[in-house]
Amino acid sequence: MICDKQKITPDNTGKNVKSRLLQILRQKKEPVSNEDLGGKLEISTESLKKQIAELQDAGYEIITSKSGYRLINDSDFLFPWEFPERESKIHFFRELSSTMDIARDLAQKGCPDFTVIIAELQSKGRGRLQRVWQSEQGGLYFTIVLRPDMAPSKSFRINFAASLVLASVLKKLFHIDAKVKWPNDILVGNMKVSGMLSEMEADAGRLSFVNLGIGVNVNNDPGEYEQKATSIKKLIGKTVARRNLLACFLDEFEKRIAGRSLDNIISQWKQAAYTLGKHVRVVTVQETLEGLAVDVDENGTLILKQKDGTVKQVIYGDCFH
Ligand code: BTN
Repeated sequence: MICDKQKITPDNTGKNVKSRLLQILRQKKEPVSNEDLGGKLEISTESLKKQIAELQDAGYEIITSKSGYRLINDSDFLFPWEFPERESKIHFFRELSSTMDIARDLAQKGCPDFTVIIAELQSKGRGRLQRVWQSEQGGLYFTIVLRPDMAPSKSFRINFAASLVLASVLKKLFHIDAKVKWPNDILVGNMKVSGMLSEMEADAGRLSFVNLGIGVNVNNDPGEYEQKATSIKKLIGKTVARRNLLACFLDEFEKRIAGRSLDNIISQWKQAAYTLGKHVRVVTVQETLEGLAVDVDENGTLILKQKDGTVKQVIYGDCFH
């Protein structure tokens, strides 16, 4: 089963207190007493008060009464404690330039594999081919620092695996017919829901890190500035919790790539692809091409048959259907 409910493992070190506190408050419609909470969390009344105050400051509406505490308005900010199993590797920012910038800095300073940088807003969100990625409130913007034991020439497999996993998570959670478009976009119909961008550094023929940046239109409205884009909210007609989507994607993606060389990823990607067999326009840094997308080879290269019958191999670009 994909994306089981998040397990929270209690410990007595004060770790995960906010996660566990929120889990209890989210389950109850009525106030939860001081004693009940303090007992379950094994913390004093004083530290409970402190934790509640910190959550209130962070934007959770928790009311305090004689009968205890009640969560009346939840927050969908992606704070580290919303991901209890990976809390120490989550870095959340309310606003930054681009998660790619912070990720590179952290990666170069030696942060661990699967460190995740999340932003509520990005002032300089980057897309592929030097485009701007508009990053307004409600979208999901994050970069994962990965340190796979892989040759740099194979790093494209990580992106293909990520787009496959994201498409299947979107299908599973929201029942939408998500498909992958070369190289790593997610489309529903012919509207873009997500895009990916990666940067890497290598040393002595092995990858030092691959930073995979992912933008997903969740509760935002990209249609205002991008005709061919839509969001999950638009598709299903209601706001969704970004924390569940992100937690689910991270768990599934981590499982999918753990210790794997991803040898079969291209053939799996082809089965979910929207691009093959379609007439496409391909934009690269140097030129714009048109033709039939006949295949994607084992290196992730798009094979394009042009009108005059010539075949072009496109290593890096974007395609439009
Ligand atoms: C594209 O489709 O052109 C790729 C878009 C990638 C956007 C994400 S949002 C998180 C990360 N930070 C960025 O500045 N870009 C990527």
